[in-house]
Amino acid sequence: MTVVRTQVAIIGAGPAGMFLAHLLRRAAIDAVVIERRDRAYVEGRVRAGVLEQVTVDQMHRLGLADRLVRDGLIHDGTKLALDGQVFRIDLAALTGGSTVTVYGQQEVMRDLFDAATADDLAIMWNAADVALAGLNGNQPTVTWREAGIERTLACDFVVGCDGFHGVSRGAIPANVRATFERVYPFGWLGILADVPPADHELIYANHERGFALASMRSATRSRYYIQCGLDEDIGDWSDNRFWDELCRRLGPDAAARVTRGSSFEKTIAPLRSFVTEPMRWGRLFLAGDAAHIVPPTGAKGMNLAVSDVTMLGEALVEHYRERSDAGIDGYSARALARVWKAERFSWWFTSVTHRFPTMDGFDRRIQMAELDYIRRSPAAQRVLAENYVGLPLEVV
Ligand code: FAD
Ligand code: DHB
Repeated sequence: MTVVRTQVAIIGAGPAGMFLAHLLRRAAIDAVVIERRDRAYVEGRVRAGVLEQVTVDQMHRLGLADRLVRDGLIHDGTKLALDGQVFRIDLAALTGGSTVTVYGQQEVMRDLFDAATADDLAIMWNAADVALAGLNGNQPTVTWREAGIERTLACDFVVGCDGFHGVSRGAIPANVRATFERVYPFGWLGILADVPPADHELIYANHERGFALASMRSATRSRYYIQCGLDEDIGDWSDNRFWDELCRRLGPDAAARVTRGSSFEKTIAPLRSFVTEPMRWGRLFLAGDAAHIVPPTGAKGMNLAVSDVTMLGEALVEHYRERSDAGIDGYSARALARVWKAERFSWWFTSVTHRFPTMDGFDRRIQMAELDYIRRSPAAQRVLAENYVGLPLEVV
């Protein structure tokens, strides 16, 4: 059995784990990342597409923004549609110049991994049976198996960046952990296709038949989603059926600009709101999806992972450089204050744009009234815009 030592053990090489690993490296804090899968698997997962300014800023600070600057699409507006009537929210004008950047999570991961290789960051791939111990004492350890060999890492702190299905959250005793959850009675069926997008901006569409979203990855690659039932079989969704349903929900004007083509990726994702509190127990910290999940409507999931580790990175630097624990003691409350604002926004945006199975005529008219109010009221648009582009790190 080999025992090695580091300062910070990071479980999971998703956005949260890799951003944190780079942040710590810049501060000369020693860290090891332990990941269950291999690089190709993590990089291949098709997920988020919209980066907030805080995420873009972090990529610049880490010196990882070359491809982002070249290939990212800066959006200063976004569109909403109600039963086919499309209207625009001028994000930049409503927020004093803030924008979002369309750049896929797969590209972010590639940038993080390429730089990790160049900087020789320690990443233990294919780590099986990861287990955490000693979190409430002074000498935590992480153990795992790698090609049949048992490994042990002794450290000062463990950071659980292992996503919603990871092991870290469960290492906090049930009697000190509270969870808050909403599971939505529908999913998103998403496709990728190498066809030009219907619009140069995103369109979030509320339609009688259900939600649809027109997004993109580039001028030649489209990303589209439609709300679907949770029990639907993906095999029942031919490309033609998908395009027909998408076009109905986007309405005739946008549909006229949809270019059809064969999809090369098609998956159904469930929607969930979930928060666990606190985000720290003893020498364990949680960050990203390990601590919270948002429904994808607000495009907040990956951005929250980055804001969490930005705060945690600052706290760990303060601990090692200034010998002050104020940052690590305040991490959970500071992170949760921003997490809950994003939870609220993602829940609200989901509620006003989706068709709920239990909806009656009253509920539907309230949704229609709310979207019509947003269309006409600069004040309502401003609330949407400042949340959509991303709140500042300090929201308390
Ligand atoms: P993850 O990306 O989940 O990374 C966790 C890592 O930990 C993984 O690499 C995993 O393999 C590893 N791991 C797990 N368990 C263990 C273990 N026991 N030991 C070691 N390693 C482990 N967000 C948006 O903003 N927009 C979207 O459109 C969007 N679409 C999504 C679609 C799907 C299907 C999913 C699942 C998520 C989507 N998200 C979206 C959310 C966004 O992708 C996540 O919020 C983001 O990936 C969170 O990053 P993370 O690093 O916290 O967790
Ligand atoms: C994308 C995903 C989202 O959840 C969203 O709100 C906007 C865009 C995307 O994958 O492009």
